[in-house]
Amino acid sequence: MSKEQLEKVARALVAKGKGILAADESMGTIKRRFDSIQIESSETNRRAYRDMLFTAPGIEQAISGVILFDETLRTKANDGTPFAELLAKKGILPGIKVDKGPVDIPSFPGEVVTEGLDGLRGRLKEYRDLGAKFAKWRAVISIGDGIPTYTCLKANGHALARYAALCQEADIVPIVEPEVLLDGNHSIEHCQDVSEETLRVTFAELAEQRIYLEGMILKPSMVVSGKDNSRQAGVEEVAERTLRCLKRTVPAAVPGIAFLSGGQSAVSATEHLNAMNKMGPHPWEVSFSYARALQDPALKAWKGATANVAAAQKIFYHRAKMNSAARSGSYSKEMEAAS
Ligand code: 13P
Repeated sequence: MSKEQLEKVARALVAKGKGILAADESMGTIKRRFDSIQIESSETNRRAYRDMLFTAPGIEQAISGVILFDETLRTKANDGTPFAELLAKKGILPGIKVDKGPVDIPSFPGEVVTEGLDGLRGRLKEYRDLGAKFAKWRAVISIGDGIPTYTCLKANGHALARYAALCQEADIVPIVEPEVLLDGNHSIEHCQDVSEETLRVTFAELAEQRIYLEGMILKPSMVVSGKDNSRQAGVEEVAERTLRCLKRTVPAAVPGIAFLSGGQSAVSATEHLNAMNKMGPHPWEVSFSYARALQDPALKAWKGATANVAAAQKIFYHRAKMNSAARSGSYSKEMEAAS
């Protein structure tokens, strides 16, 4: 393990004014995204879509790294360059989703644990040879009646820590993603409690596996009201509660926190990030690793048509720039209108 190399990559991922594009949708997820614009999830369409995103002019000003799915890491862009190489040429770090998704935990109804540790050491070596500099593993925590249980948090924290250790051994920076879902009618106070407990358990497991904290990135969800709760907390409250939760649980040695968007609208995700950075400075960089909040407007504009590529790229570039501004707390609603 090269600690120096890990730290260098981790810091580059959360460089000032930049964040990560998550474009690592699994086959099931990309099918759902394509269903929403009524196009088929064929290999050709998936390649065309990712090509549109990755070749968008100027995105390297705002995007430090892109998380890819296995298929995309092995795919070539329209001009014949492998996607990983195309990104690297733009100064964007290629990353790879390595988990194999969640499965039910026996005897714990409504709770899941993420699989994918078997054979991971070998897969990481292959991914590194294909150009991946960092990886991602997502754990999914639901809030509901009597859940999450400690067993669920512990099982997921353990898997995240085992994954992170194998990544660091292979000189790949692990993105540790424990996502607390926003589905449900729970209050924001409840979300804060669950998020704190999740991160406490996760960092205890990371310590037990001797994770080099300077060489990892945390990808948490924000502390928000449950989607169906009658009181939807405002931007300031989300920012304050999220920061309080993170300050209580995330060691200052971690270089950066890169949030997922989790189903928030594109503008909300930007506003929340902006509000948090306005409240800085913080012990770690406060950044983004969005999938939907970066891609959705561009996906809708693209609609699977070559004729729409340039327009979709402009929209994607705009979203990336808005989040880039939010990295320093300098975003404003007027910037949306101006474009
Ligand atoms: P969203 O930003 O759409 O939540 O996706 C982030 C991600 O990578 C989920 O694993």
